[in-house]
Amino acid sequence: MWRFVLLGFALALAGCNRDQGTSDRPAASAARGTPEAPWLIGMSQCNLGEPWRVQMNEDIAKAAAKHNNIKVVFKDAQNDSLRQRTQVEELVAQKIDVLIISPKETAPLTKPVAEAYDKGIPVIVLDRRVDGDKFTTFIGADNKKIGRAAGAWIQKTLGGKGRIVELKGLMTSSPGQDRHSGFREGLAADQHPDLQVVFEADMQWLEPNARKEMSSALTAHPEIDLVYAHNDPGAHGAWLAAKEAGRHEKIKFVGIDALPHEGIRYVKEGVLAATFAYPTGGTEAIDTALKILRGEKAEKEIVLGTRLYTHDNVDKGGEAVE
Ligand code: FRU
Repeated sequence: MWRFVLLGFALALAGCNRDQGTSDRPAASAARGTPEAPWLIGMSQCNLGEPWRVQMNEDIAKAAAKHNNIKVVFKDAQNDSLRQRTQVEELVAQKIDVLIISPKETAPLTKPVAEAYDKGIPVIVLDRRVDGDKFTTFIGADNKKIGRAAGAWIQKTLGGKGRIVELKGLMTSSPGQDRHSGFREGLAADQHPDLQVVFEADMQWLEPNARKEMSSALTAHPEIDLVYAHNDPGAHGAWLAAKEAGRHEKIKFVGIDALPHEGIRYVKEGVLAATFAYPTGGTEAIDTALKILRGEKAEKEIVLGTRLYTHDNVDKGGEAVE
């Protein structure tokens, strides 16, 4: 009698496995995280229009290629928060084991991230933040600190006086907000009456927008000493506008990102006076995903460092910002 009961159980279990086996994911009971049945990591990238984001995806792909038990599926939201939201939902429906997301904007991406997390999917948020705490780990550099360091460096470089243009990153994204508030703190313009931000605009991280905004700034202000842009494409766009107006040699340009083939190259060429490193966190995201998948506890927040590159130190590899 017991033999039949056990046999019945075994058949029922086999039936379950067969049903699950018809989906594109291996059955939950099968060994996961093997070369035959790799863990699936979904990577939701907000935009691939800028070199820094291409670099982030490359860093992720390179780090993942070192492990034959994981597979990464990439989605590009093409700078559209609604599209990114749908893509996160698609990844969740694909039954990914971990979600990595670099969200375009804070508010619209908070809900889909929280929903994935509530379904039990570990979520690693990269570089731009979401609201609340419904995610597993946040990885990124301290944008407030970078902004503050930029402000202090600019104040010192200008000798406490001058006219500044601030070209802000998307102000509905956390790095834009932090690079702005940190900068104003570091600049301490209230203590330097001859130091003024004469023009500010949201160029939404995009070089063509920065170029357009800078043209307006140049028209409105016959004297500009320095441009602080929240990223290197923005600083370069501003430089192009100034060059067109024949004023680029009188103005200093400061950016953030310091990619070797972008910001660092601009510093070497004398286009930028300074840039601050903003690491992509791609490698750390894969390391953290593996940690989570192995059942280890991941930290809630991983803060990455920054470096300052100027004409004087760029050939020596820049200097750490404490
Ligand atoms: C790329 C980018 C970088 C910047 C980061 C901030 O989309 O604009 O240049 O450092 O995003 O999130």
